[in-house]
Amino acid sequence: MLKWKTNRKVLLGISGGISAYKIPDVVSTLKKYNNDIEVIMTRSASSFVTPLSLSTLTGKKTWMEEDFLSDQRGWEIPHISLADWAEVFVIAPATANVIRRAAFGEAETLLGATMLATRAPVVIFPAMNIHMWEHPATQRHVKMSGELGYIVIPPEEGFLACGYEGKGRLPKKEVILEILWRVLSPKRDLIGKKIIVTSGPTREFMDPVRFISNPSSGKMGYAVARTAWYRGADVTLIKGPTYIEPPFGVRTIDVTTAQEMYDAVLKESDGADIVVKAAAVGDYRFAHTLDQKLKREGRGRLEVILEENPDIAAEVGKRKRQGQILVGFAAESTEVVENALSKLNKKNMDMIVANDITARGSGFESDTNSVTVICKTGRTSRLEGSKEEVAWGLWDIVEAEFLS
Ligand SMILES: Cc1cc2nc3c(=O)[nH]c(=O)nc-3n(C[C@H](O)[C@H](O)[C@H](O)COP(=O)(O)O)c2cc1C
Repeated sequence: MLKWKTNRKVLLGISGGISAYKIPDVVSTLKKYNNDIEVIMTRSASSFVTPLSLSTLTGKKTWMEEDFLSDQRGWEIPHISLADWAEVFVIAPATANVIRRAAFGEAETLLGATMLATRAPVVIFPAMNIHMWEHPATQRHVKMSGELGYIVIPPEEGFLACGYEGKGRLPKKEVILEILWRVLSPKRDLIGKKIIVTSGPTREFMDPVRFISNPSSGKMGYAVARTAWYRGADVTLIKGPTYIEPPFGVRTIDVTTAQEMYDAVLKESDGADIVVKAAAVGDYRFAHTLDQKLKREGRGRLEVILEENPDIAAEVGKRKRQGQILVGFAAESTEVVENALSKLNKKNMDMIVANDITARGSGFESDTNSVTVICKTGRTSRLEGSKEEVAWGLWDIVEAEFLS
């Protein structure tokens, strides 16, 4: 867990939509990561989820409409103190009604007044029946809210509680949290940068059912892509076959063989500012592939000929434009730093991340990593921690050495 995802002050506004039942789970996860949460509920919201459930999870009073103009708390003005306290104001679910209030700056409710009073980013998650969402009035209010600086996240498509199928669903908890982390990211130094990240293994087929590959899980590349997205980048992830879900917000391109990865990288990298090659690409492929499954047929021994795959990093290095940054990964089992340094120079890279795959808690499939980063500028650094922490550290180095 990256440090900045903890101890944040999250103000949560819940309005009267059926998907309000999902919010206690969001609160519970935020609490698990030691965040501080205050909740404001509209009167209608309390018909869908109880203030008591939320107070139990936050460990605090849940703010209701009747608290707005109440003299119960003496000097405290809830809409101002909550607005000032918040680092982010998330409204989920946001009803069509709340979006209208946002668009017109209506302040007759605690939730509406707090939206006007806060200087924190306001993230609105609309959720409603598809026809309500598509209605020109709602669409106009969404557009107006966006123009006022609110971050409006369009609802997802799927089965809706009202029985319809289509756009209107509140995104799942993981997506809400990912968007929150991007909004709260302490660094936004990759805004406007187009970044290509490769990840995962490749597969080289001998026949339709057999291939050679490697145990790369894709986790490191995913962490590099995800953290770049948090920092504001426009990220494309070119990924070999893996079983983990791609990071939210990132465009993904699926490939299987090294040749497919080569073609995709060369096509995409033309317009990229930074190319990070974190995939474990097979160096060799079968010289001959069979259309039909190879049968045993009592051969006793089978000899196959392998031929070299194209070298993607070397090709990107050769074609590199002025100002483009190429970052490579080197998975090594011997003389890790020496081998990485020689790759850096040979392939015209700007930075290489050397990974000792024989070390414990490092490399393939692991959730943690321990790497040596070598820059062509001469800087050498060690990074270790979760793959997300290592990825965050890599972007810090890219920023310091090549972007500032
Ligand atoms: C069963 C039920 C489910 C509802 N679900 C939604 C919904 O998902 N989204 C929405 O915008 N309105 C929904 N509404 C309508 C809102 O509850 C209604 O517009 C209310 O006035 C909103 O108040 P609020 O915005 O102050 O919370 C629903 C109403 C009912 C009765």
